[in-house]
Amino acid sequence: APPVIVAIDGPSGTGKSSTSKAVAAQLGLSYLDTGAQYRAITWWMVNNGIDTTDPSEVAAVVGKPEIVSGTDPSAPTITVDGVDVSAPIRGQEVTSRVSAVSAVPEVRARITELQRSIAAASEHGIVVEGRDIGTTVLPDADLKIFLTASPEARAARRHGELKGADLHTTRESLIKRDTADSTRKTSPLAKAGDAVEVDTTNLTLQQVIECVVTLVEEKR
Ligand code: C5P
Repeated sequence: APPVIVAIDGPSGTGKSSTSKAVAAQLGLSYLDTGAQYRAITWWMVNNGIDTTDPSEVAAVVGKPEIVSGTDPSAPTITVDGVDVSAPIRGQEVTSRVSAVSAVPEVRARITELQRSIAAASEHGIVVEGRDIGTTVLPDADLKIFLTASPEARAARRHGELKGADLHTTRESLIKRDTADSTRKTSPLAKAGDAVEVDTTNLTLQQVIECVVTLVEEKR
């Protein structure tokens, strides 16, 4: 079969990562978590004392860190200058700053180029998950999925993953990040005109995976 390119977009807490990894593993495809790339560049900025609220300061150093993404869906890794940052990029500090960093056009230009070259290099095809994959990064993808879920369901899922934070705080920070991501000027979170929308509110993860696998198989 020729390589198949699958774009999976949507806000946080819709099951994007779990679904994308499982679909890629099941179909023998590569996997790319583009949110991890934006988190990794944000992690580097925080560690190097960059004021992440100042777009010109962010833009000035955008080319400095070397970001390498592993594309194995069973063991996704990400390194910055050779250091594995898979764990620290999930922390509160990076999570609260990533939307501001990812809104800077120079950051998006650099990361988008990286994403396109990774997708082009995939031998059997790839599942790429993010916010602007179907609209901007890979507009010619063979299949575009847009995952949604009610804010309550999204907050509850995220709350289950993050030990410690209370549900209300989780819900507020999730909504704040989605609003920032959806309203930024450059390449906002949006459903592509030709994307298939899947509302996961009342579906189990297994049902979402099966739904997407079926859609990919129809395209092959
Ligand atoms: O998917 P995840 O929650 O890890 O993404 C972290 C952040 O990275 C998002 O809130 C968004 O600001 C940014 N992002 C983006 N474009 C993508 C993927 C993520 O702007 N394609």
